[in-house]
Amino acid sequence: MMPRIAPLAGALGAEILGVDLLNLDAQGWEDVHRAFLQYSVLAIREQKLEPADIMRVGAKFGEPCHYPFVTGMDGYPFIFEVVKEPEEKKNFGGAWHSDTAYLKQPPLATLLYAVETPSHGGDTLFTSTYAAYDALSEGVRKVVDTLIGVNSAELKYGGGRTAMHQKIGGMKVHDTDNADQYVSEHPVARTHPETGRKALYASRSHTTHFKGMTEEESAPLLNFLFQHQTRPEFTCRVRWAPGTLTVWDNRCTQHNAVNDYHGQRRRMRRLTVGAQIPQ
Ligand code: SIN
Repeated sequence: MMPRIAPLAGALGAEILGVDLLNLDAQGWEDVHRAFLQYSVLAIREQKLEPADIMRVGAKFGEPCHYPFVTGMDGYPFIFEVVKEPEEKKNFGGAWHSDTAYLKQPPLATLLYAVETPSHGGDTLFTSTYAAYDALSEGVRKVVDTLIGVNSAELKYGGGRTAMHQKIGGMKVHDTDNADQYVSEHPVARTHPETGRKALYASRSHTTHFKGMTEEESAPLLNFLFQHQTRPEFTCRVRWAPGTLTVWDNRCTQHNAVNDYHGQRRRMRRLTVGAQIPQ
């Protein structure tokens, strides 16, 4: 079955239509993988996936990874539910980031499967950190090419640890008191191992400073990069429906879950795969 691919925006993102991931042949998976490398974010529509199926699909992209702060589903320790209940105000992932950049080997891909979605709102924004890197001047590229970012799980800008502390509704959160122990250094301009393209790898959620500099010294350039990399022309938006599986490439994108659906439930299942040292 040949997937139909409908790009979502100029810089990244595509919808994949007319496929059944559970019955995809080798050629179909090759097409999906090529689309993943080309578009970085794939919203694969109208799937019916149980947790075991999500594991099977995830295995096509890499080995499963553990998320340190949320307990997995019974029988599926690598999958956890991202839930916002109607009475909750904070959401999970509501600030720009690449997943778990504070780990030594962050996951190359995240799979997020929509189980229950609000009638409207609750979209996820994505940005292409390839496009952001490419749009820098040669002078700034030369500087960022030399920098190492220090990434910490002690999230300061909302959306992560801060939100999780206050979050008692649908998610089984634990261990956030140890968040400051999750710190990793990664290149600010990383090279994608499969495409060879360079992408920015620093986020407002995780990157606290540049190695060898203070936070104060790092802030002007970091703040510039945080602003720059989310320029509208580098972004796309995924609108969810139950049965949508979105797979994104953490090596060349960041995402931000839009928190605009208070009073409605949103329930997703999330799996990360493919631990890889950013180079
Ligand atoms: C995440 O940041 O992993 C969750 C994104 C979302 O719920 O849209």
